[in-house]
Amino acid sequence: MEINLLDSHPKTNRDYDKRALEKTPEIIRIAKQFGKEFFDGDRKCGYGGYVYDGRWKTVVRRMKEFYHLSETAAILDIGCGKGFMLHDFKELMPDCTVAGIDVSAYAIENAMPLVKPFLEIASAEGLPYPDKVFDLVISINSIHNLPIDLLKTALREVQRVCRGNSYITVDAWRNEQERQNLYKWVLTAETMMHVDDWKKLFNEVGFTGDYWWFIAD
Ligand SMILES: C[S@@+](CC[C@H](N)C(=O)[O-])C[C@H]1O[C@@H](n2cnc3c(N)ncnc32)[C@H](O)[C@@H]1O
Repeated sequence: MEINLLDSHPKTNRDYDKRALEKTPEIIRIAKQFGKEFFDGDRKCGYGGYVYDGRWKTVVRRMKEFYHLSETAAILDIGCGKGFMLHDFKELMPDCTVAGIDVSAYAIENAMPLVKPFLEIASAEGLPYPDKVFDLVISINSIHNLPIDLLKTALREVQRVCRGNSYITVDAWRNEQERQNLYKWVLTAETMMHVDDWKKLFNEVGFTGDYWWFIAD
């Protein structure tokens, strides 16, 4: 199902033309390392400061209701960064089990203390978990950082470890203007598509979860 569960997030102002001018091969190379520069360096290289601001609180409450999660649900976040969303799940549902993976050693090293023990360095195409152990598998703006073949494997991995629901968001466009904006903006994504092509891909690999888009509008 196509559904926006992140609509409570504050709207970010993006200057697409400025980013396109600043986006040198060196900046892209640095961003793709997903190190300190990407999270907490200059805005040119990524977030320009990836700081906890509580914006996931509303989202996790919404997800809990939407997916009818029990207080003891097991939740996985793929591309969890510093664990902000998992932190808010753990605060909302102290008896839930959380797990997170990310390729970034920097993000995990600097993760929220409440959830840091449950985070691991791993890549989305090889999840270090047994089959069917999570009630909710989430991946926000992360798996599009893989080239298409590995991305397909990552979607199959979501299916494998999930015994309940899953929710992912990926870079996408609905029209030519959004496609151009996205190409100007993106630093790290390897796979970006029209929303209809994403839906075909989900179908092809047998991904049955819910989804939404990062749209550069
Ligand atoms: C745009 S950030 C999103 C972080 C977090 N999900 C959020 O919404 O705040 C993308 C994240 O994906 C991670 N990432 C990139 N490639 C990955 C991969 N192959 N497997 C897992 N995580 C990856 C990055 O390190 C980064 O934390």
